[in-house]
Amino acid sequence: MGKPKVVLGVSGGIAAYKACELLRRLTESGHDVRVVPTASALHFVGAATWSALSGKPVSTEVWDDVHEVPHVRIGQHADLVVVAPATADMLAKAAHGLADDLLTNTLLTARCPVVFAPAMHTEMWEHPATQENVATLRRRGAVVIEPAVGRLTGVDTGKGRLPDPTEIFEICRRVLARGVREPDLAGRHVVVSAGGTREPLDPVRFLGNRSSGKQGYALARTAAARGARVTLIAANTGLPDPAGVDVIPVGTAVQLREAALKAAADADVVVMAAAVADFRPAVYALGKIKKKDGQEPEPITLVRNPDILAELSADRARPGQVVVGFAAETDDVLVNGRAKLARKGCDLLVVNEVGEAKTFGTEENEAVVLGADGSETPVPYGPKEALAETVWDLVVRRLA
Ligand code: CTP
Repeated sequence: MGKPKVVLGVSGGIAAYKACELLRRLTESGHDVRVVPTASALHFVGAATWSALSGKPVSTEVWDDVHEVPHVRIGQHADLVVVAPATADMLAKAAHGLADDLLTNTLLTARCPVVFAPAMHTEMWEHPATQENVATLRRRGAVVIEPAVGRLTGVDTGKGRLPDPTEIFEICRRVLARGVREPDLAGRHVVVSAGGTREPLDPVRFLGNRSSGKQGYALARTAAARGARVTLIAANTGLPDPAGVDVIPVGTAVQLREAALKAAADADVVVMAAAVADFRPAVYALGKIKKKDGQEPEPITLVRNPDILAELSADRARPGQVVVGFAAETDDVLVNGRAKLARKGCDLLVVNEVGEAKTFGTEENEAVVLGADGSETPVPYGPKEALAETVWDLVVRRLA
């Protein structure tokens, strides 16, 4: 099998320079990349750069190398087309099927998955015209990733930034791996919690746990690549924001509960992958707790935190909402898992065995997904991403 063929479409926005990094990632990871910039993209980054980085000729118009019929061939032979940055104008052209240059022709002839990474000013992104074009493209099966929030060109900040190229690459990798299968979470809003809560004791200390957040982030990334609108509630993770995902940082269990209930209100799926502390110190000391010579330390009194998963499962924000929990167990994994599934009232429970060297902070995981319907899906030891895909497969079946 040859290298996967990727077409990198670049439209005319200042973020075009970030597409150089995406191109580099794609070529270095063994993809055969053909860059198709628009004429206006060349105002930002010249043809020489694209050509040198891709090792291929670069053209913007259908009139170059006409004997090779590039306006048809490039799209027909592609395994993936990614447009980054996609301007408001490019999204409009793609939604309406215009074909006035090589990139728009390529989009019409491509039968492979297509990813758009929009970048523009917030007003342009929020304009009903753009939003309708995005909805049209998504309905037709394209993955349009949400822009990131942050500094825009000039003095403005808001939603509209091109996500980090490394993270766009991650989406491309996953979409390519799925092949021509439809983005089956398109039109769905999924909420994922990740990381571990920290319950403060005083201004410098907290009760925490060893969850890295990697499994939750893998769930968020795979959901975005399958077309979902994703809200990621991140408890103390320090991981880079995945492309196309709204990240809500939280610290404590109480903050996580508040964010989860709010996001769940219009969600189709809620996945509680975060390790939530069951207890918090009853008293928060406003000043640092000091040791006193000759005195034993004061015992720490704990109080129960709310059980967020149980609450979300019991009061579903909408009918048919699918709720997924995680269980970390050290002994009698399956028996405890079944009991926990019943106690929490969720639809699916991902049970994994944990220990000091197992699961926490690693790239791999091994689990069994228990269903409230009695099903049992073992997921062999492998990347956290593979477990995430299985979870979404099981969720999609329940949504349908
Ligand atoms: N969870 C939650 N709220 C809590 C505690 C846990 O929503 N206060 C969620 C976790 O996000 C996870 C699931 O419940 O999806 C199971 O977490 P786990 O810690 O294994 O279960 P516990 O209820 O804490 O059970 P125990 O510690 O007794 O095993």
